[in-house]
Amino acid sequence: MTQDDDKRAAAEAAVAEVQPDMLVGLGTGSTVRFAIEALGRRVADGLRVTAVATSLDSAARAAALGIVVRDFAEVARVDLTIDGADEVDDRLWAIKGAGGAMLREKIVAAASTRMVVIADASKRVTAIGGVKLPVEVLPFARGYVTDRLAMLDATVTVRDGVTDNCNIVLDARFAAFPDAPALAGALDATPGVLGHGLFLDQVDATYVADRGIVTRLER
Ligand code: 5RP
Repeated sequence: MTQDDDKRAAAEAAVAEVQPDMLVGLGTGSTVRFAIEALGRRVADGLRVTAVATSLDSAARAAALGIVVRDFAEVARVDLTIDGADEVDDRLWAIKGAGGAMLREKIVAAASTRMVVIADASKRVTAIGGVKLPVEVLPFARGYVTDRLAMLDATVTVRDGVTDNCNIVLDARFAAFPDAPALAGALDATPGVLGHGLFLDQVDATYVADRGIVTRLER
């Protein structure tokens, strides 16, 4: 049983939630790729659904498998979003964004009636905060936001390249992870910060696979 087997098992368990005529939100990342493949198989078998994607990569993969991908700009509500995470704990708090899609992921999650996170067991932690926190920043605000993060005791690395939204990502490493709701509030209130990878209210359920056994946690 490999890590990919567990990613696939978690993904397939979540895709089993998809019902006919749903509008499905597709997250981003290597675990979500298994969900897109599983959904593609169900569509090939005749399931009628449409999707919106949180990244250009996921949109292209879904379309290549015959899934109808709608422009999210034309959408107000999503039925079910399936996404990955870099860390998730039993409070259903998650850190996302290693793949750089956290801004669109959070918008699609907010529009979703239900959001489920899929992961292999390496992502399940006692309390989130061990990984770098990605922060999407307007390039104009790079110096200002870097300084604000340093004042919050973060060591900041500027990621190479830009996001699908043509913004930059600052990866913030905290020696001691701050109170997560307070940190999210501080980031949300910082001009120039467009999004960040703290998902504290968005996740309704997790599917975590450990050596082939999938455990579902509901909020
Ligand atoms: C992208 C994300 C991903 O869902 C997260 O990084 C997990 O990716 P993977 O399944 O490849 O480990 O948040 O912005």
